[in-house]
Amino acid sequence: MSGRVEGKVAFITGAARGQGRSHAVRLAQEGADIIAVDVCKPVSGTDLIPASTPDDLAETADLVKGLGRRIVTTEVDVRDFDALRAAVDSGVEELGRLDIVVANAGIGNGGETLDKTSEEDWQTMIDINLGGVWKAAKAGVPHLIAAGGGSIILTSSVGGLKAYPNTGHYVAAKHGVVGLMRAFAVELGEHSIRVNSVHPTNVNTPMFMNEGTMKLFRPDLENPTKEDFEPVAKFMHVLPVGWVEPVDISNAVLYLASDESRFVTGVTLPVDGGSLLK
Ligand SMILES: NC(=O)c1ccc[n+]([C@@H]2O[C@H](COP(=O)([O-])OP(=O)(O)OC[C@H]3O[C@@H](n4cnc5c(N)ncnc54)[C@H](O)[C@@H]3O)[C@@H](O)[C@H]2O)c1
Repeated sequence: MSGRVEGKVAFITGAARGQGRSHAVRLAQEGADIIAVDVCKPVSGTDLIPASTPDDLAETADLVKGLGRRIVTTEVDVRDFDALRAAVDSGVEELGRLDIVVANAGIGNGGETLDKTSEEDWQTMIDINLGGVWKAAKAGVPHLIAAGGGSIILTSSVGGLKAYPNTGHYVAAKHGVVGLMRAFAVELGEHSIRVNSVHPTNVNTPMFMNEGTMKLFRPDLENPTKEDFEPVAKFMHVLPVGWVEPVDISNAVLYLASDESRFVTGVTLPVDGGSLLK
């Protein structure tokens, strides 16, 4: 039986761990080869989340190879367009084509209200979570045009469709991703390239499942655990969950990457347990 993206090649940013790794594995399970990039080190002095490592990216590669698919990995910062383009170009040279771009890499930093956010945190956030998404798509576009079409999926957030306090720069960047997605969609439609965004709620990855986030949800406790903050996180959703798993987002990415969504473009697809209804 052939896979849902059999014979296609996907370029994924932020693929060392979390959702990016899950997207690589899920697309490989359905027959795609993978071009995977990640910075694999800290990106700013105020990171809230421990950085991914070269070993993480190597583990993603092992998982994809274990499925019998090919993968090319490069350590690249999505802020560096020339390096990003070089990684995509050499990946395409090795794997033969490009059909899918998943611009997933992103960060969380700061944790202040907008009036207290530092210029450095603002700039790093916008450069990675908005600029890096644009650069990843831009690096892929010539290859998608050459392939006669394709699918670009930009990772936004529920925070790209509604606001949360204490992370306004993230909310601004993720709303910006929606504008980017819509503009790319109208520009690239004539090349049969579809462009959509996914909007996850809390996902069980290091970005969400860390000490800082747990303390944010349970400021009343000194050392809150997963069990302590789950009931509070559940209040955000209509469905009885505090968070979703990376594969839940990967299944949405897979749908948008596959020909099952061949006439779907310009869409903001939430995977949010009903968070947007609240
Ligand atoms: N985890 C959540 O709750 C959640 C919710 C909504 C949206 N998102 C978004 O999903 C995406 C994936 O996040 P995740 O949950 O897998 O987090 P994660 O921290 O586990 O993974 C993010 C990956 O992106 C990489 N990355 C960060 N900056 C980079 C850069 N400048 N260049 C290249 N790689 C870089 C990191 O090294 C890391 O491996 C992000 O865009 C995030 O904003 C996450």
